[in-house]
Amino acid sequence: MGDSRLPGFYKLSREERVRAVAAFSGLSDDEVRMLLGGYGLTPEEADRMSENVIGLLQLPLGVATNFLINGRDYLVPMAIEEPSVIAAASNAARVARVKGGFRASADRSLTLGQIQVVGVPDPHAAVQRVLEHREELLRIANDTNPTLLRVGGGAVDLSGRVIDTERGRMLIIELLVDTKDAMGANTVNTMVEEIAPIVEELAGGRVRLRILSNLATHRMARAWAVFDAEAAGGRDVVEGILDAHAFAAADPYRCATHNKGVMNGVVAVALATGNDTRALEAGAHTYASLGGRCRPLTRWELNSAGDLVGSVEMPMAVGTLGGATSSHPVARLSLRILGVRTAQELASVMAAVALAQNFAALRALVKEGIQRGHMKLHARNLAVMAGATPDILDEVVRRLSELKRVTYDDAVRIVGEVRSSAARAGGSDKS
Ligand code: MEV
Repeated sequence: MGDSRLPGFYKLSREERVRAVAAFSGLSDDEVRMLLGGYGLTPEEADRMSENVIGLLQLPLGVATNFLINGRDYLVPMAIEEPSVIAAASNAARVARVKGGFRASADRSLTLGQIQVVGVPDPHAAVQRVLEHREELLRIANDTNPTLLRVGGGAVDLSGRVIDTERGRMLIIELLVDTKDAMGANTVNTMVEEIAPIVEELAGGRVRLRILSNLATHRMARAWAVFDAEAAGGRDVVEGILDAHAFAAADPYRCATHNKGVMNGVVAVALATGNDTRALEAGAHTYASLGGRCRPLTRWELNSAGDLVGSVEMPMAVGTLGGATSSHPVARLSLRILGVRTAQELASVMAAVALAQNFAALRALVKEGIQRGHMKLHARNLAVMAGATPDILDEVVRRLSELKRVTYDDAVRIVGEVRSSAARAGGSDKS
């Protein structure tokens, strides 16, 4: 692996960027062609993935540079429509490099499946009746996926709980499955559906739901990094980030936005690699609220040298095999660019990106505010919305960028002005 710093990457043409990524990740000519041509999922492939398909929705795919995680360099593919997110992650990773980059780790891919049993007259005894058959139930679950068993995964534990609900007592039987490099939803859902009739008979009630839980607390990823105070922007910025963290820890309205910034990074990598973004969002936000109030997913502290230390710990149910990670050509390509070998490695990288994204957002918020970084691309989007054609687009964006604040009305006005002066110049050329 090369050096992920790639100085001046953002200034290169798109083709030069693709060539640089290809050299870093050893991409094939076909893969380079796919990126250059903007090819990806075909409508036929899309038709096999979902229902009532009529077209495709495309998103920008970029790479975040500078990531040094556990001593290894990564270029991180991110699919996202929001400006500044990829640049912000790259900048934060550059600051983290000063003190050695990120340390990150992730748990085994242990996924929980739940079976809900209602109408059990003696639910506590029923738990025992079911658990007496633990080995048999694990074997039946594992018989549904011999391949997983062969690669060292499979159902590893069975447990039971009684919960009080608005509809009375219920028995919840939980199956824990090591899904290895798969996200695992299909695997686990198949297993709980398979053992549910036996559970129902043993428990003596009625099985209702059989489904995995997205609160993936058995599958946590974590990362931490030291952000050099000077490189972070100096003492006041460091204090500002600590204040921002305290604000999020004390106030749910700020906490939601703080964690949204964290998820900007997580979801962009998840989308690029074909992972289930909704599962990640559900897991992260529920985890953040487990104590009955929203907690920031990241933490910020000072070390004895006065540098800023950031850490994050959050559920990260992701895979590198199966589902769209295997069937979507761009997701496969993103995984090649990233060069991760396992789901655990992907989860670790995503934890580092989560932390980088939060650092970048907080630093921007305590310094110049978030709008400046957004402005250039925002101006370009507004210009296009206001009818700027390619021949006048650059000039419209240049003039919009000179304004302190840019609105749609400004864009309409400037498009009109640039168009009239272009027409006048065209007219005087002719005369
Ligand atoms: C915008 O997408 C994300 C931020 O609002 C996150 C934050 O406020 O921490 C900038």
